[in-house]
Amino acid sequence: MKRFYLTTAIDYANGHPHIGHAYEKILADVICRTKRLLGYDVHFLTGLDEHGQKVEQTAKERGISPQALCDSVAKEFIDMCALLHISYDDYIRTTQPHHKTIVRTILQKLFDNGDIYKAEYTGFYSTRVERFLQEKDRVDGIWPESEFGQVTEITETNYFFKLNPHKQWLVDYITAHENFIFPKFRAKQVLEFLREDINDLCISRPKDRLSWGIELPFDSEYVTYVWFDALINYISAVGYGTEKFSEFWPVDYHVIGKDILVPAHAVYWPIMLHALDLPMPKTFLAHGWWLCSGEKMSKSVGNVVDPLDYAKQFGTDAFRYFVIREMNVGQDSDFSHELFLSRYNNDLGNDLGNLVSRNSNMLQRYCGGTIPEIATAEAPETELIGLWSQTHEKVLHGYDRLQFHRALEDIFTFIGAINKFLEIRAPWKLAKSKDPREQNRLRTTLAASSEAIRLAATILAPILPTISQQILEIFQIKAMAWGKQLDWNGHNLANQSLGMESVILFPRIV
Ligand code: MSP
Repeated sequence: MKRFYLTTAIDYANGHPHIGHAYEKILADVICRTKRLLGYDVHFLTGLDEHGQKVEQTAKERGISPQALCDSVAKEFIDMCALLHISYDDYIRTTQPHHKTIVRTILQKLFDNGDIYKAEYTGFYSTRVERFLQEKDRVDGIWPESEFGQVTEITETNYFFKLNPHKQWLVDYITAHENFIFPKFRAKQVLEFLREDINDLCISRPKDRLSWGIELPFDSEYVTYVWFDALINYISAVGYGTEKFSEFWPVDYHVIGKDILVPAHAVYWPIMLHALDLPMPKTFLAHGWWLCSGEKMSKSVGNVVDPLDYAKQFGTDAFRYFVIREMNVGQDSDFSHELFLSRYNNDLGNDLGNLVSRNSNMLQRYCGGTIPEIATAEAPETELIGLWSQTHEKVLHGYDRLQFHRALEDIFTFIGAINKFLEIRAPWKLAKSKDPREQNRLRTTLAASSEAIRLAATILAPILPTISQQILEIFQIKAMAWGKQLDWNGHNLANQSLGMESVILFPRIV
């Protein structure tokens, strides 16, 4: 079985989950579920980034220990994953002993190799992003307050990781590997960043300024920089230094937001891996941001969307549907309550939910609750079957290219076609006729609509896992890996009795 390893960013342990965190986990989950259904042996890693100045400060403000803060935040994030049905295989917390040990092993190795040196440095430091800023971070001559918060000049002796010796190698690597960064236009941004010399990375913080971190193995006066620690989670979680590591590494996808691609993921991380002689990740998937009326969500503006509220009120799958339908992976998208309601009531309620309940009701009324066999093949059925074979191909292609919004559009075009098919065939009229040909048409119609609904539910499974399962339960069948399950099969459901009377999948909400 082919292995597929995917990671998400690990969330900072100093805030509450919001739609950005939720979206990233859902996107990663959809990819992993797709791969599982295609037969891959998936390993899905997510987790929490627990060290650093912000966590230390927030804990201080709340009068609790940093560990107590991390424990309570971890609970919130893990609860969010449970509510959103995130099917992760491992949840790493960077305070876990095995992670800390590996970070120290790596620091020692790089130090012994001469990749890390000690020096005094004067520079401008941002606590918000927890790093020394570079001249190239300035916009119109200043470091934007919105991005960097308060910036102060400090002089400090610290340890530095050499970046420049690897710079040309990285430029060549990015240029030669077009799938390294998705979407492709973001690779240009990285190359732009690499055009000038880059400052070596300061990888330590003196303990008198920050104590909440992993102590350097070669100098107990310092802890390591939070990003250096955090990036290593991707290899510490899968047993760096042990035999099993090579089963997982290199990772297939690092799913992250666009804000943390440059320089952390696309510059520091590849150089760290290169210095460690490890293969490169296959793809960085940098998704866009959720905005609110075109603006960044922020606590002070009061426009932060709480994903938990939506998932609780409208159902997890409805929330998953909305974020995947509205976001073109890689671009930004705007969250609006009106749009959410419209997608919920129209796509999910009217198009899908009503179709499923109408179909069940008609099967009860006209076929005694048992799905009939396809008895004729006339134009309406043939057209529906033809549309499915196109849809099937387009959707799998869309999933593979991370075009989930397009794939959903295609699935819902197919669902619209099933509704239209029922309108054209009008089983309620056929049922009034005693003519055996009309009776055959009636049975064929409901057999075909049921098979079409089964297929739509099956291919929707990565995005709507619960609803998909509920629909299959109505037909009393179990979800299975894809393959043949996605082929139209007129006999699949024949003579199957319905598992339940009628269901309302998406109660109308105004
Ligand atoms: N701890 C670092 C990541 C370290 S990875 C080795 C971090 N944490 S974060 O909590 O600030 O962000 C976690 C993820 O959420 C990031 O990928 C970030 O891009 C994403 N998002 C945060 N806000 C977002 C939106 N409004 N919209 C979409 N995703 C956004 O960065």
